[in-house]
Amino acid sequence: MISIEKSSKPLSGGVFVPGDKSISHRSIMFGALAEGTTEITGFLEGADCLSTIDCFRNLGVEIEHSQRPMNGVPTITVHGKGLYGLKAPKKELFTGNSGTTTRLIAGILAAQPFDSMLTGDSSIETRPMGRIMKPLTQMGADISSIHDNDCAPLLIRGGKKLHGITYHTPVASAQIKSCILLAGLYSDSDTVVYEPALSRNHTEIMLRAFGADVHNEIDVQGSAAAILHPGTPLRGIRINVPGDISSAAYFIAAALMVPGSDVVIHNVGINKTRAGILSVLKQMGADIELENVDESIEPRADLHVRYSELHGNANGRFEISGKIIPTMIDELPIFAVVAATADCTTIIKDAAELKVKESNRIDAIVNNLKAMGVDVEATDDGMIINGGKSLHGADIECHADHRIAMSFAIAALAADGTTRILDDKCVGISYPTFFKDLNKLIK
Ligand code: S3P
Repeated sequence: MISIEKSSKPLSGGVFVPGDKSISHRSIMFGALAEGTTEITGFLEGADCLSTIDCFRNLGVEIEHSQRPMNGVPTITVHGKGLYGLKAPKKELFTGNSGTTTRLIAGILAAQPFDSMLTGDSSIETRPMGRIMKPLTQMGADISSIHDNDCAPLLIRGGKKLHGITYHTPVASAQIKSCILLAGLYSDSDTVVYEPALSRNHTEIMLRAFGADVHNEIDVQGSAAAILHPGTPLRGIRINVPGDISSAAYFIAAALMVPGSDVVIHNVGINKTRAGILSVLKQMGADIELENVDESIEPRADLHVRYSELHGNANGRFEISGKIIPTMIDELPIFAVVAATADCTTIIKDAAELKVKESNRIDAIVNNLKAMGVDVEATDDGMIINGGKSLHGADIECHADHRIAMSFAIAALAADGTTRILDDKCVGISYPTFFKDLNKLIK
């Protein structure tokens, strides 16, 4: 538990947020399947990514985790086994709280010659896995849910020959897409995944850098395809992971909400499939400047954020829906907090996926905002937030969800009185040094 008071001082100075979680996971996974070594700097040492390392070590992959003596930058070296070099695990693979680990690794395990069992913590055991079981089964995999409830634990029987498929996923989800593409690496023909809007495309970008033949296509209706042609081996590469925009979003929000703030968040990944939060906040009047933009394959920039009074359109409303939602799905909890302080009614639509994240985030956001005195109403696929009234301190139920804990720690800075984040430990899933970094900006 941690108590936070309203911030009497503006936030100022610069901060580096830890490495991008999605890219960190993938760097281990693809490195493990590549020939040769993959060297990773900027890796996120959060519990979720450590679960990925642990799973691949249990699959026989040597992964070194060292501090460079000269500059202290942690480097991870993955000694790749090639596509066909993984070993049967001696025990079940435990993915902790990590949906990304569970769903992506399932696509790899489906194509192995050995059986494996995948399980995780109590949250993972309630998250929907039918969404990957269905396409993997169509590809020829043998994957079943031990309790027959489409959730983990999952038993994956090896030794199956996989076939490429064309799959239309009803939800834009990078985890579903990536799972299918990874199984596609082992298939006898092309794999095509269509999604209603382009979800984060790190798998496509990174697999291509490792040597795979994969690309995205967007048709005139805006439907997005990822197309993978199997048969090329992966080769180890060097990866410098940019800072995670999902982590940066907390400090962006804090700077926008606390009067007088002026903050620079360095080296943040700004891949377009992740940067919806920036464009939405700018539409509401946020003063966010991109400095030192580096157009690497995963582009990055310093984000200079100054306190701003946020507003809606001329009619006092602001709506987000449709294709922008997947580009800011993990930022919706902190966006909702910012919206509660903005001078407008904010309507969030097409975000039913929030119900199946680490917690039911629609309920968690709405109930905690209500506890802080906000006029907010849950809808089937989002919420309606009548912003502009002052927030007051409250006890925040985190539901072991890192993004809820961090979002409401930021809300606390703008709320009268004391806010207690009842579970502060869960931030370690994606941002172990969150409170330390926040304190640096306040002092
Ligand atoms: C992720 C994809 C998203 C996101 C999650 C990470 C990824 O999940 O919410 O935190 O790394 O592929 P969905 O694919 O379920 O939308």
